[in-house]
Amino acid sequence: MPVINRSPDSATVGSVILLGIIGVVAAQTAIASDTEKYIQDKCAGCHALSADDFDVNDMSERLRRKGPPLYYAGDKFKKEWLQGWLQSPSRIRPGGGFPPDHTVVTDDGDVIDEKTLPEHPSVAKPKAGDVAEFLLTLHLKARPPLKTAYQPKEVSPMLGKMNFNKFKGCSACHRDEEGVGGLSGPELYSAWNRLQPEFMVSYIKNPVAWDPHSMMPNKHLQEPEIHKLVDYLKLIGEKRP
Ligand code: HEC
Ligand code: HEC
Repeated sequence: MPVINRSPDSATVGSVILLGIIGVVAAQTAIASDTEKYIQDKCAGCHALSADDFDVNDMSERLRRKGPPLYYAGDKFKKEWLQGWLQSPSRIRPGGGFPPDHTVVTDDGDVIDEKTLPEHPSVAKPKAGDVAEFLLTLHLKARPPLKTAYQPKEVSPMLGKMNFNKFKGCSACHRDEEGVGGLSGPELYSAWNRLQPEFMVSYIKNPVAWDPHSMMPNKHLQEPEIHKLVDYLKLIGEKRP
């Protein structure tokens, strides 16, 4: 009886594998373009997704957009935080957006009119993963170089706080505790959980290199001084639940 050789020849195996790869790549591309379209539709009205689109416009563009730029999201956010926050967003900037346009002047100073603050739209679970994945592919084209890599060090809570509040004046615009500190910048007690450490160092060093319309002043700090501030953000961030 003739033996029938059922094993496919290597050319067949090759083309089956190749077709398989094309299929996987095509499916991934479909997810990416589907997600990209979703983000264009649902997010781009408030968030700049490309630097070119943002740079050419003046400050009015930033004001119109309402939300912070996302074209460097891949350099900025921690993945786990981003996926979770998109599903149940909580406020990061006490004043709502940019600039804080919900401030009322009172005898006790500026307060935020919470009632007028809009809720951020949320993204349902399966989609949130794809959206986060896509946003994390966005990077700044020319990331400003740092002299030394950030290595976390211990800092005393008291000295860290004094440095943040008194010496470097960060609390004029930022909060290192819930309900305490400035209103115009993002809360920083959650910064360590939200942001990549190297991004924090780089942004504090030169905010305009990231966002030409940034309202954060360049304090002309040296990298070792910035590392100490980030050590403090780590300390207070890790203390949170
Ligand atoms: C109506 C305007 C608006 C729309 C639409 C919108 N956002 Fe936002 N987004 C904002 C504002 C304002 C903030 C700042 C909120 C805060 O700090 O509390 C923000 C914050 C964010 C942040 C945190 C950014 C940071 O630097 O802290 C992310 C991430 C984000 N939005 C993603 C998205 C995604 C993804 C979509 C689409 C599904 C979207 N947003 C739709 C206005 C919007
Ligand atoms: C005059 C107000 C002001 C001062 C003072 C200031 N910042 Fe900021 N900072 C801002 C604003 C506004 C933003 C971000 C704007 C945006 O993208 O929405 C920002 C952003 C940041 C970010 C990125 C956070 C994020 O979620 O996007 C970090 C980290 C930061 N500042 C740290 C500091 C530190 C540390 C100091 C003290 C050396 C400081 N800032 C002083 C206004 C200020």
